[in-house]
Order: sequence, then C-alpha cells, then structure tokens
Amino acid sequence: MKVRESGMPDETYWNTFFNPGCILERFDCAGSSRGLVEFGCGYGLFTLPAARLVQGQVFALDIDPEMVATTEKKARDHGLTNIVVERRDFIKDGCGRPDASVDYAMLFNILHVEDPVGLLREVFRVLAPGGKAGVIHWRSDIETPRGPSLDIRPHPEQCRSWGQQAGLSFIRSEALACCSYHFGLLLERPIS
Ligand SMILES: C[S@@+](CC[C@H](N)C(=O)[O-])C[C@H]1O[C@@H](n2cnc3c(N)ncnc32)[C@H](O)[C@@H]1O
Repeated sequence: MKVRESGMPDETYWNTFFNPGCILERFDCAGSSRGLVEFGCGYGLFTLPAARLVQGQVFALDIDPEMVATTEKKARDHGLTNIVVERRDFIKDGCGRPDASVDYAMLFNILHVEDPVGLLREVFRVLAPGGKAGVIHWRSDIETPRGPSLDIRPHPEQCRSWGQQAGLSFIRSEALACCSYHFGLLLERPIS
C-alpha cells in the first residue's frame, strides 16, 4: 500500500529543496559498513550520495516503478555497483532484509505513513544493535512550499516518541541549516 500523500513532484523541483551531501554528513551515514536500507528512494536523490559514503551496500526500496527505474539508471550511469534497487511495498511486505542485518536506515520524507510505529518496528528489526536510523521531514512550524498536509505531518517530538515505542533510542536532533524546510533526528537500535 502506497504511503498516503507520498507522490513525487517533478524531479528538478524536488531537488531544489535539498542538499543531500550536507544531510548525510550530519546523519552519521559514513559509518555504515554492513548495509543501509532506504525506505522510499524516490528519484534516488539521497541514494547515490549515500552509496558513495558507505562501505557496504545500499538497498533502495520503492513501490513506484518509475522511481525504481530512475534510481536504477542513475546507479548504472554513475557506475555505483553497491546500490541494489528493488520495487517493493515495505508496508505490506517489510524491507526484505534479514533481522539485524544492516547498520543504517534512511527514513527521509516518509514518516507521515499511516502507521509510523509499525514502520519503525520494521526498522528496529532490520537494524543490527548499534545501527542507526536517520529521519528527515518537512517542518510544520514554518510555511513550506511542499510537504504532506499539516494534519498528518509528523513533528520531531512525535518521531522521537514513535521511535521509542518501536524500541529505538533517541540520539539527537539536527538543525538542518542546509535544508531549512526540514527537521532531522537520529535514532539508534540500542546495543542491549
Ligand atoms: C515523498 S517520497 C521521498 C523520496 C525520498 N526519500 C526523498 O526524500 O527524496 C516517498 C517515496 O516513498 C515511496 N513509497 C510510498 N509508499 C511506499 C511503500 N509502501 N513501499 C515502498 N515505497 C513507498 C513513494 O513511491 C515515493 O517515491
């Protein structure tokens, strides 16, 4: 089931809102060596820079065939062999990776999902102890040119609480001066 209000606008327009390198740098992605799962890769805006930063594989998932084809083509064109793009409904079928098998999860612009705790439980399942989850989303405290309806847009405190309900610890919030329409936070599957 496609997450509500998760359709993408034109790619060039979407790209104007983000500085992917800056975000990934602040979110500890570079430490990933056992694999990274991206829940909803869209046009691959974050997939490619993540693949350049990490030592392991990037499992980029999306339900939309156009997003899958676009991200696959970009990975091929840039010779990035550590990207595995899969058309998959991670709400219905999970992310498809074994328990505790990766050390990073990207949840970028997706936590307005109908059941955020359910999705975060899947993140908890797939992360190895000590693995991290980066969350970014559109802010509600300022006007933004895009983003899901305000009544379903998550607040940072909600993301933190949902993460904790799913067993993830809160590490820190990140003010994203480089992407001022967004907030960010980092969660972790505790080591014990
Ligand atoms: C708002 S976009 C964000 C894309 C990317 N994370 C970014 O920030 O550039 C959300 C993406 O999630 C995908 N998506 C929505 N529901 C999904 C599902 N159930 N399983 C897999 N992908 C899904 C959509 O097709 C869309 O590409």
